[in-house]
Amino acid sequence: MELPALLRQGVDALLSGVPVSDLSRASDYLSRRYRAEVRDGKFHLSDELAAKAYIAARLPATYAAVRASLEMVAEVRPDFAPRKILDAGAGPGTALWASSDCWSSLDSALLFEGSASIRQVGEKLAEATAVQVEWREHDVTKDKISAEKADLVTLAYVLDELSETQGMGLVEQLWQSCSDVMVVVEPGTPAGWERILKVRSLLLERGAHILAPCAHGLACPIKSPDWCHFSRRVARSRIHRLTKLAEVPWEDEKFIFIAASRQAGLPIEARIIAPPKAGSGKVSVKLCGCDGAASEALITKRDGDLFKKARRAEWGDYL
Ligand SMILES: C[S@@+](CC[C@H](N)C(=O)[O-])C[C@H]1O[C@@H](n2cnc3c(N)ncnc32)[C@H](O)[C@@H]1O
Repeated sequence: MELPALLRQGVDALLSGVPVSDLSRASDYLSRRYRAEVRDGKFHLSDELAAKAYIAARLPATYAAVRASLEMVAEVRPDFAPRKILDAGAGPGTALWASSDCWSSLDSALLFEGSASIRQVGEKLAEATAVQVEWREHDVTKDKISAEKADLVTLAYVLDELSETQGMGLVEQLWQSCSDVMVVVEPGTPAGWERILKVRSLLLERGAHILAPCAHGLACPIKSPDWCHFSRRVARSRIHRLTKLAEVPWEDEKFIFIAASRQAGLPIEARIIAPPKAGSGKVSVKLCGCDGAASEALITKRDGDLFKKARRAEWGDYL
């Protein structure tokens, strides 16, 4: 997956003239903070260089994860045509760009962000979008979300920077600000999945319908040390490669998400929750089914249309 052309151009313009060695150092520092889930009261994106390292090294991957999550929502809610997005911890505006790419109906965005440096970067990038954007300086650990309801509410890669109490409090507020669909995305790690499970339980308790990725609203059948997650291949631009000191022109972003709504989506039989293994005349898939069970299924030519579908299917697709 690649960034939309206008966003790519905006990123390139903002990075032009910044020494790659500086970006690389800042990106390495950022990754160490993210990996260790440091919560020391400081924003990871606390200065201009950190914000630029984020758009060079992380934005392509978080964009891909958010865009893929939204696609799975669109598949089960073909009627959904959001006008307004409310996004918390918006960073450079990742969810704004991903949602306007997914739904051309989107015409306004309200973006809450605590770090001034990434907000400035996001504001600059958003000059290229046709969506009417309002940014609010907002610390989700201190300020209450007060806004008119939006039909799409997003929270991407933010919970891992908050304590559980802060995170769940934020999810509760966001659900109150949501008139239709809410999507929460996290890194595809065991810890990210555990956080998503807590969000899922909270939203179910509030009467939400689960849209994706689960094929049901029953208890999650996956048991630790296994965990549910998906993956998207992300194209690395030259500056992305140089910033990360990487040779390979792509990387795989692992992510997990939950999408819930005040309205039910189209039912699906099952979601493929691991990479399918294809052999001659057969394909083996790990499924999360609408009965709330996880299972391994061997689908063969004898299964006719189901085999044709499964042979083309990828990790994250539904059957
Ligand atoms: C990993 S970035 C994700 C940005 C964007 N959502 C994305 O998916 O690319 C996390 C964002 O949450 C913001 N953030 C973290 N703690 C926050 C807080 N207490 N209040 C507001 N924003 C916060 C950070 O400044 C950062 O922009």
